[in-house]
Amino acid sequence: MSFIAIEELNKHIGETVAVAGWVTRVRRSGKIAFLQLRDGTGFIQGVLVRSEVSEEVFDLAKGLSQESSLIVSGEVRADDRSPSGVELSVQDLQLVAAPTEEYPITPKEHGVDFLMERRHLYLRHKTPWAVMRIRDELERALHDFFTERGFVRFDAPLFMPTAVEGTTNLFEINLFDEDEAYLSQSGQLYAEAGALALGKVYTFGPTFRAEKSKTRKHLLEFWMIEPEVAYLEHEGNMQLQEEMLSYLLGRVLEERKIELDMLNRDTSKLEPTANGDFPRLSYDEALKLLAKKGEVLEWGDDFGAPHETILGEAFDRPVMIHSWPTQTKAFYMQPFDDDPSRVKCNDVIAPEGYGELIGGSQRIHDYELLKSRIEEHNLPLEAFAWYLDLRKYGSVPHSGYGMGLERTLAWITGLSHLREVIPFPRMLTRMYP
Ligand code: 4AD
Ligand code: MG
Repeated sequence: MSFIAIEELNKHIGETVAVAGWVTRVRRSGKIAFLQLRDGTGFIQGVLVRSEVSEEVFDLAKGLSQESSLIVSGEVRADDRSPSGVELSVQDLQLVAAPTEEYPITPKEHGVDFLMERRHLYLRHKTPWAVMRIRDELERALHDFFTERGFVRFDAPLFMPTAVEGTTNLFEINLFDEDEAYLSQSGQLYAEAGALALGKVYTFGPTFRAEKSKTRKHLLEFWMIEPEVAYLEHEGNMQLQEEMLSYLLGRVLEERKIELDMLNRDTSKLEPTANGDFPRLSYDEALKLLAKKGEVLEWGDDFGAPHETILGEAFDRPVMIHSWPTQTKAFYMQPFDDDPSRVKCNDVIAPEGYGELIGGSQRIHDYELLKSRIEEHNLPLEAFAWYLDLRKYGSVPHSGYGMGLERTLAWITGLSHLREVIPFPRMLTRMYP
């Protein structure tokens, strides 16, 4: 038997089809039974009229418990009230498996911990379903964006001999006897080798940060996309970020309307981003804006969550904060020729309090300067020998950035906590399931 996906049913109006899925709810009203059905691609209602089906089928339908798996056949009918535009007039049912115990997630309200403990089941429900479909669209849009522009996907290792983004949040692991390694905080350094080999590359994969603080914006394991481009400089790097974000938003708004609607996302808050033209503030200008709003920082201070929220809320689309103090940022960033106290870097901060989406920079391409920076940061030179080699043989200016997938997705979906936008979140307080 061949099955039709619920998301394709609107192309089969008037036909009799079979759908393979699960029951999420059964309601009976006199001689009619209503089945809420899902098949992974969508949700629909099936309607059974007692007089139109066998007694056996009607009895089976009204006795179905939540999450019974089944095959349903019937006629597809147009229905304006349904989000998919159709409803199924059920003629026959075949039970595949009835739950052996009562399904724990009932239609009543449950607390976050209850649902997180049952994440493996909760993923079947509408909110996570919609989020995962948007996540998938976002990932595909990323690959399309970079592929269309001639980038090569380049996979960085996850076991690392060195730190990339500071040493405070590194996960150390013991490999065999004495060998120590870390879980990757970023694929950037390897992407740089890739860019000098292939021109334009991007990595996409999991990254790890031992974040001891419990916040809604930090996961221990998150996914990052990291493009890196030979001969690209600071301005071009910011341009690429802007083009990418507007492309991504355009795609999701176009392709994932039903899902955004299920999440009650106010898409008018996302539309400006699809038009590009992001505001740009230097770090110094950002300090002034913060001071005007009552947050006085000293030159050199990093921004905390409240500062990012103020900056993000000041605009209707992401804001770029560029030209940061050298002392505040990572060792590999290229200083301005006329002012070595500042580096050619930028962060992108989301609107609506979602914080930093992107961190990027032009990289130091001068051998001696990079070597002295590694030493100043007390990083082990031996481990960076290969990275320094990239500056020995045909070194060129190059730039790149990293975008956190879950930060971006939390903002797009309007969900407040990053744990909602990854299938199985890894946090200080959660390792199960
Ligand atoms: O700003 P970060 O630390 O930049 C880098 O790792 C660079 N090496 C990237 C590069 O230039 N190739 O991290 C980049 C982004 C942040 O802007 C944020 O979106 C996300 O990664 N991020 C996290 N997301 C979830 N949980 C965490 N603990 C995160 N830490 C960073
Ligand atoms: Mg950053």
